[in-house]
Amino acid sequence: METEQTLVLIKPDGVQRGLIGEVIARYEHKGLKIVGMKLQQLPRNTAEALYAVHLGKSFYDVLIEFMTSAPIVALVIEGRGAIDLVRIINGETDPKESRPGSIRGDFSVNITHNIVHASDSPENAQRELDIVFGPEECYKYNRVDEAILHPTIV
Ligand code: CMP
Repeated sequence: METEQTLVLIKPDGVQRGLIGEVIARYEHKGLKIVGMKLQQLPRNTAEALYAVHLGKSFYDVLIEFMTSAPIVALVIEGRGAIDLVRIINGETDPKESRPGSIRGDFSVNITHNIVHASDSPENAQRELDIVFGPEECYKYNRVDEAILHPTIV
């Protein structure tokens, strides 16, 4: 499986409910690596660029208002198959359809206030990472458990 990077945003509801540590722990405990991280209040034009694909949809204005209403935590998450893996950890977009054990299944009941956003494809991951992070904001390092997470002999 290929090593990938994906963008995660812990949304204003996740930050304001004190769930930053809980959310990050789920990615870390799975074996994914946080290689970029920042707290910021999204400028409106950044939120609009990230969600351009939803322009014109019924929920677009509410989504942009919400995403710019308070700080978010932006993460660059790296690992084998990270794009799909992060989305499994997050659960379904609609928390009412998310299984317990997923972030949205455990902490949300509302499709707008659904705690996290994550890229849904390699193309969108690259596009979204370029909007939110500069190359100097991502780091290379080894986790000490990499040999256990990815053994050469299984
Ligand atoms: P996210 O993964 O951030 O991508 C777009 C967001 O729009 C989505 O999560 C939801 O929070 C929000 N949203 C609100 N209503 C809908 C809807 N009907 N369908 C999809 N996304 C929605």
